[in-house]
Amino acid sequence: MNEQKRITIPYLYELKKKGEPISWLTAYDFPIASLVDQSGIEMILVGDSASMVVYGNSSTLPITMDMMIEHCRAVRRGAPNAFVIGDMPFLSYQVSIESAVYNAGRFMKEGGCDGIKLEGGARVAETVRAIVNAGIPVAGHIGLTPQSSAMLGGFKVQGKDVHSAISLIEDAKALENVGAFGVLLECVPTKVSSIIRKNSNILVFGIGAGDDVDGQLLIIHDILGLYQCFTPKFVRQYVNLSSIIADALSKYRSEVKTRQFPAREHSFTIPAEELKKVEEYLALKKLVPAKAGNEA
Ligand code: KIV
Repeated sequence: MNEQKRITIPYLYELKKKGEPISWLTAYDFPIASLVDQSGIEMILVGDSASMVVYGNSSTLPITMDMMIEHCRAVRRGAPNAFVIGDMPFLSYQVSIESAVYNAGRFMKEGGCDGIKLEGGARVAETVRAIVNAGIPVAGHIGLTPQSSAMLGGFKVQGKDVHSAISLIEDAKALENVGAFGVLLECVPTKVSSIIRKNSNILVFGIGAGDDVDGQLLIIHDILGLYQCFTPKFVRQYVNLSSIIADALSKYRSEVKTRQFPAREHSFTIPAEELKKVEEYLALKKLVPAKAGNEA
């Protein structure tokens, strides 16, 4: 286990300066956040992807502010050291700048987050400026932005033609100009990410954006093999927990059926003299005693 240290934005910038890639993963609950924190991974995203990988929805749209705040609170309790970012859910920042600042503030005040992430570039620049002015660190998210996948025509790689590549470059600059501390590029060609990183003074993170960025993000359910619906091309699965869990579940079921579980060590005893008194009571009431020899 790595030596623990509370991660700050200046520390993340030091890593960028040294050329050391920043590791970033999603987490949504206490036990997994504890493991991520103990591993020394610098950043945690409490992503609105929870809507899909935790709640089984087919998109990120249904998750609400209140649900996100509860996930952030659980993650913060498990991860005292990592830099925790709360992901602003659909409609929490699109309706008005005032409601965006209020909801971003809830992530900090109620969720215990260190910053927030929201989707969009130039089109959300004034919202980002207002949130930053409220003293809240903001990361932008451009490229494939799942909350607006209907507008993008589905979950598609972005920046593959000159028009969309230039839009991404301009979006990243717009976010930098209004004070975002970082920008996440999702499903962007490596060359376009590289251009953005080389022309940015802020932290440039990628998820499916190649290797020339300051940090990598992945969804924890993908790398642990816990989400069986779909695995994007950019994911490396480090372990297949689904099959390990499936084996354990089928073993448990079979041991219950064959009475191999519970064993003596999983069971509790009643002192013999107390049991004797219970048996006297049963005899009096003509009730059935316990089967013989089933306790230690
Ligand atoms: O919610 C999330 O996990 C995300 C990633 C897909 C970037 O926003």
